[in-house]
Amino acid sequence: MSNILLDLSLSMVKKDEMENMKAFIQTAHRLLHESLGAGKEFTGWLDLPNSYDEAELNRIKYYAEKIKKESQAFVVIGIGGSYLGARALIEALNHNFYNELSEEKRKGPAIYYAGNNISSNYIWDLIDLLEDKDISINVISKSGTTTEPAIAFRVFKEYMEKKYGKRGARERIYVTTDKDRGALRELAEMEGYASFVIPDDIGGRYSVLTAVGLLPIAVSGINIDELLLGASDGVDEYFNEDLDDNICYQYAAIRNILYNKGKDIEILISYEPNLQYFAEWWKQLFGESEGKDNKGIFPASANFTTDLHSLGQLIQDGKRNLFETTIHIEKPKKDITIKADDNNLDKLNYLENKTIDFVNKKAFEGTVAAHTSGRVPNIVIKLPQLNEYYFGKLIYFFEKACAISGYMLGVNPFDQPGVEEYKRNMFKLLGKPGY
Ligand code: PA5
Repeated sequence: MSNILLDLSLSMVKKDEMENMKAFIQTAHRLLHESLGAGKEFTGWLDLPNSYDEAELNRIKYYAEKIKKESQAFVVIGIGGSYLGARALIEALNHNFYNELSEEKRKGPAIYYAGNNISSNYIWDLIDLLEDKDISINVISKSGTTTEPAIAFRVFKEYMEKKYGKRGARERIYVTTDKDRGALRELAEMEGYASFVIPDDIGGRYSVLTAVGLLPIAVSGINIDELLLGASDGVDEYFNEDLDDNICYQYAAIRNILYNKGKDIEILISYEPNLQYFAEWWKQLFGESEGKDNKGIFPASANFTTDLHSLGQLIQDGKRNLFETTIHIEKPKKDITIKADDNNLDKLNYLENKTIDFVNKKAFEGTVAAHTSGRVPNIVIKLPQLNEYYFGKLIYFFEKACAISGYMLGVNPFDQPGVEEYKRNMFKLLGKPGY
């Protein structure tokens, strides 16, 4: 059966360097699986795909159908781990122009995001866009106190109550938060909103396969059973502590080897434009998990071939402190054959009967050859197809690789103390009581 594969042939890492990682990998594996490592109280995601509460999953599906029936647009309010996973998968697995499709063609309402910035222009424009549409809202915040989504929700709650009345709004507002802590939980109980729980032992950036991601993802028509099946197969496949047989651990190991050789920027590359937000999710996962104690690889991303015409120069020729990890999709969902043209003014007839995906693959091969000759190590993660199953597995692959990689680096991959600094300054400047 086809599977996700890891190609390390152009990673510029030698066999004995990998061998030397075996003991570190085993230690990291034990820290994670025997709950001995820093942040051990946040490893609920590790077995989640295998232990999913059936009743909770059915509730998610039930409400997703209700939202689809009642809404032309769905607003997801959240930031960081409370929104990036949902957006990543909604964009990766749906039509490239999902929101622009007609309602008949789309499998769910148009999906918009709020609370992921503090721009008044953005909120104005979104409300303007939604004026004549029936909408539902999902506000997502584990702490229930994050400023960006809290402000957006205050605005949208008022908007909804004006539009539908207090009772009508109650039927269209969905809350995803902690089971009993935080302002949002209190509000949900007081107003009687349908609500979903973010488990205590799962942090924001590891929460995409909880209701945080699954409700919005299901609303967009994605098959969440297949997603969880892929992740669940990942749980079994990526359990093996033997480095030779575990591609997830190989990825974690190779990142650390490259980092120790001064490669402290990793660029996640894709040749499919709708993976842009998948890269944003990946950047948050690795950046927030590893970037601490003055350590960490800077996670960057690029869309090829688009960015070959902007960042390509720097990657080929600039400072040699980076490596690339490409997500390579073997088979496109749809393809287009290039036809001959009688005049051939564009001189493209040499591509007659080739497909656009064939050209894309040659661009990939040519780029990898160029960048490796420019001494940029290349890691390639190969997926047979862009579908729910493989992306469920890929999510789990990266989550686990990130935890293992963080332990190898000697950091707590589950906290984010550095995020508080800007908040403290902002609260002080805003005059928030207690700051
Ligand atoms: O990964 C994380 O923990 C963060 O990115 C949070 O998800 C983000 O800050 C939002 O927090 P909350 O869900 O509490 O609003």
